[in-house]
Amino acid sequence: MGDLESFISQCKNNGKSIGFVPTMGALHAGHLSLVERCVAENDVAVVSVFVNPTQFNNPDDLATYPRDPEGDSRLLAKAGVTAVFLPEVGDIYPDGTGRDHDYELGTAAEVMEGKYRPGHFQGVAQVVSRLFALVRPDRAYFGEKDFQQIAVIRNMVAAEGIDVSIVPCPIKRANDGLALSSRNALLDEEQRANAPEIHRALLDSQAYALNHSVDATRRSVIEYLDAIPGMRVEYFEIVDARTLLPVEDWAEAPWIVGCITVYCGPVRLIDNITFKNELDK
Ligand code: PAF
Repeated sequence: MGDLESFISQCKNNGKSIGFVPTMGALHAGHLSLVERCVAENDVAVVSVFVNPTQFNNPDDLATYPRDPEGDSRLLAKAGVTAVFLPEVGDIYPDGTGRDHDYELGTAAEVMEGKYRPGHFQGVAQVVSRLFALVRPDRAYFGEKDFQQIAVIRNMVAAEGIDVSIVPCPIKRANDGLALSSRNALLDEEQRANAPEIHRALLDSQAYALNHSVDATRRSVIEYLDAIPGMRVEYFEIVDARTLLPVEDWAEAPWIVGCITVYCGPVRLIDNITFKNELDK
């Protein structure tokens, strides 16, 4: 910890820009795309690997979360990062893992993941704000697979007055379309074979949406995926990408995204798709 703090102070004193990629390890090509960008855009690139207990509302999920410290070290050694931060729970939470205070995360934190994983975003806000306080990054990189997480972290940063630029990075996919995720390592052969149906259903829904209502589009995705043995949609919401609140009409917002969570056997996978983005012109 002391080492990290003095290293960061030295970088700041020397006017170096600091990029940061917070991760929970079990790294894959999605993480590496964030790391690559972080290395390219900053004088100094810091990556943290820390499975944060406070963002798991389900103890079994924490216990089974994939861990691969040796694989992570191998990948990070080749990735050109300046510093790897591997804190212990006591380093991040010297006073224990209770909530320090309620972070103001806005309504974006109450829907979807916020509704199905109570407390999850408070835990994410808690760890990310602590990591930001230690690493003091100019830029921090997050994957768009966790689309809602990015919105919530932006709200946290604004509420806490943290001076950092949040950089969203595109989803990386396997050749068959499955969004890369550390949790994919938990899929058995049959679940892995079915999992790309999530992205396929989302892609099909983009075409379907051209002549169907928001609600019909939402239901078509859920019905398609729920009919696949072993798969169960927890939610599929079509939302205003700026607020994360559901829309009822395609004309209601300039940027509309569909966010989905599907259980593939016991493994909880998330993904999303953009239906329209008139802001990106
Ligand atoms: O997206 C993740 O892996 C985690 O939520 C994060 C941002 C590293 C915080 O633990």
